[in-house]
Amino acid sequence: MTEHVDTLPAVHETGSGDTVLFLHAFTLDASQWDHQVAALSGDVRCVRVDLWGCGTSPQPPPDTPSLDSFAASVLAALDARGIDRFSVVGLSMGGYLAFAMLRLAPSRIRALALCSTRSAADDTPRREDRLAMADQVERDQSVESIVEPMIERLLSPASRGEAHVADPVRGRIRRCSPAGIAFAQRAMAARTDSTGMLGSIDVPTLVIGATHDAIIPIAEVRAMSGAITGATLVELDCGHLANLEEPRAFNEALGSFLVPAVAAS
Ligand code: MLT
Repeated sequence: MTEHVDTLPAVHETGSGDTVLFLHAFTLDASQWDHQVAALSGDVRCVRVDLWGCGTSPQPPPDTPSLDSFAASVLAALDARGIDRFSVVGLSMGGYLAFAMLRLAPSRIRALALCSTRSAADDTPRREDRLAMADQVERDQSVESIVEPMIERLLSPASRGEAHVADPVRGRIRRCSPAGIAFAQRAMAARTDSTGMLGSIDVPTLVIGATHDAIIPIAEVRAMSGAITGATLVELDCGHLANLEEPRAFNEALGSFLVPAVAAS
């Protein structure tokens, strides 16, 4: 693992103890995890990164977009902090990145929480939609056209009506640069199918699915969880951004899984 490590992501650290790495969803940034960091940073060292071009990270490097290259840069950022082993919490795109990290550095991962995510790669229509969005934001040199469509996809109708949930999500989308959005979409479109590796995951794993998720159907989450030996499945009654829509239930599930799993590993 040597590529693309010269463009390190922005890293935000809170708390001390064993490290838990939080990987955010597409069009968001590390602040997506504020509720979880508030709940868990008394027990563990919460490390959050911003994807290139999002939050306070530098712009993506000019190489071919790939989630593996961003995952390699996250590993390099952890190396720079002297962090060897860690648990990973990834939501949606953050879950796709967690699979990339498992491929690159399996022995470093102690426990895994896969939230509102899938192991499968994209089908052709989904890939084409991603490439079209990447082209559009680059053409516009603005992310404004994707703000409301993303809010529709990311949040349940109930959460869309809650300004305290929806407005910060709008703010995070607007903080992403066109280059960051284009990188993420092209990298996700090109990502490897991780379904074949589910049976070989041998660390404690929590899977969180959302019953009103417009992006990842709960049936797919159940199937993914069933393919991971010993995985714990928790289903929350909300939309895709489960950690923002149902923070209390999400934190209960994550805390009761992570704190014992980290202590035992
Ligand atoms: C995300 O929430 O990370 C993305 O919407 C996931 C995706 O587009 O596949």
